[in-house]
Amino acid sequence: MTAVPAVALRGVTKRFGASVAVEPTDLDVSDGEFFSILGPSGCGKTTIMRMIAGFESPTAGTIALDGRDVVGVPTRRRDLNMLFQSYALFPHLSVEDNVAFELRTQRVPRAELRERVAAALDLVQLGEYRGRKPQELSGGQRQRVALARAVVGRPKVVLLDEPLGALDQRLRKDMQFELKRMQRELGITFVYVTHDQEEALTMSDRIAVMSRGRVLQVGSPTEIYDEPANRFVASFIGTCNLLDATATGGVVRVEGVGAVPAVGATDGDVVVAIRPERIRLLPADAPGGIPGRVVEHAFLGDHWLAKVVVGAAVAPMQVQVPAAEGARLLRGIEDGAEVALDWSAADARVLPAEPAASSTRTQEVAA
Ligand SMILES: Nc1ncnc2c1ncn2[C@@H]1O[C@H](COP(=O)(O)OP(=O)(O)O)[C@@H](O)[C@H]1O
Ligand SMILES: [Mg+2]
Repeated sequence: MTAVPAVALRGVTKRFGASVAVEPTDLDVSDGEFFSILGPSGCGKTTIMRMIAGFESPTAGTIALDGRDVVGVPTRRRDLNMLFQSYALFPHLSVEDNVAFELRTQRVPRAELRERVAAALDLVQLGEYRGRKPQELSGGQRQRVALARAVVGRPKVVLLDEPLGALDQRLRKDMQFELKRMQRELGITFVYVTHDQEEALTMSDRIAVMSRGRVLQVGSPTEIYDEPANRFVASFIGTCNLLDATATGGVVRVEGVGAVPAVGATDGDVVVAIRPERIRLLPADAPGGIPGRVVEHAFLGDHWLAKVVVGAAVAPMQVQVPAAEGARLLRGIEDGAEVALDWSAADARVLPAEPAASSTRTQEVAA
């Protein structure tokens, strides 16, 4: 087995004038992987994609595709294809001819061309629509044509930059599963950019979480959800309660509460990160529980949500309560009622209090 990454970035940096869009970045995308770059708008995702594609040159660093250094190599000579949100189909060509266009310019023999176009259209389930013009298709179908066109040449890597951004929520969800299925069937490496954490979790083998030009963590969906490396990743992926705390010799204390279950490796100011579904809601008199007050609660069908203030914390903790537990402890209670919380030390991650500071960046906009 060779382990040459399909895409490898080393020290890749991009400056626009005085501002840094991408801080020095190392990334390895494995062959055949569905790899996502996830982060809020303005964090540098598109800039990284444009450098991989060859539309922008890095200010510093190297990019290798399949082990070959490609800095300076024009886009058309990189073994990749792209699908961006603002893709354009040829309006006067049929679905089939849109997909065949690139193969024709490459003078692929007729029989092979027909076979490959048919296979690509089958893959996106548009075989029956091969004769239609783009304007006779729905938005989702047009997007699939663009996808068929991006993969028909069997590139080593396909770059997808928020390709589902223009679709409505329902169609997005369907397309997420479809994209993943197609990627598996094709065995092509996908590098996928999104600001939507659920989308990244649904599809990816691994995710790089970015903020302000930096990759903060790379991991599988479960790794970044269960073992966030810092405060930003913890709060950007799903919902996470963050408690300011102080760690001394492995004991983690929250002001106004005292010691809480958590295993801290570092001493000093820390943040305890704990997911709503990992917290148990208990009656106020439960032994060993952390006392709190319910300030809001709601029944959400398959579970209840309670907001519970503990200690001197200003923000209430969000607690996801299983339906049966909620019916017993929350149904009919007054807000302000006393309860207790508990969680396992293993579910409470102790993170550095401050995220890594970044210098010259312009303020990023929340997605
Ligand atoms: N051509 C450019 N000239 C100047 N600044 C740019 C250019 N392209 C992107 N930027 C800036 O770089 C940062 C990252 O942008 P971008 O990569 O598009 O973010 P994302 O795709 O994550 O939303 C932003 O602050 C953006 O304004
Ligand atoms: Mg972008």
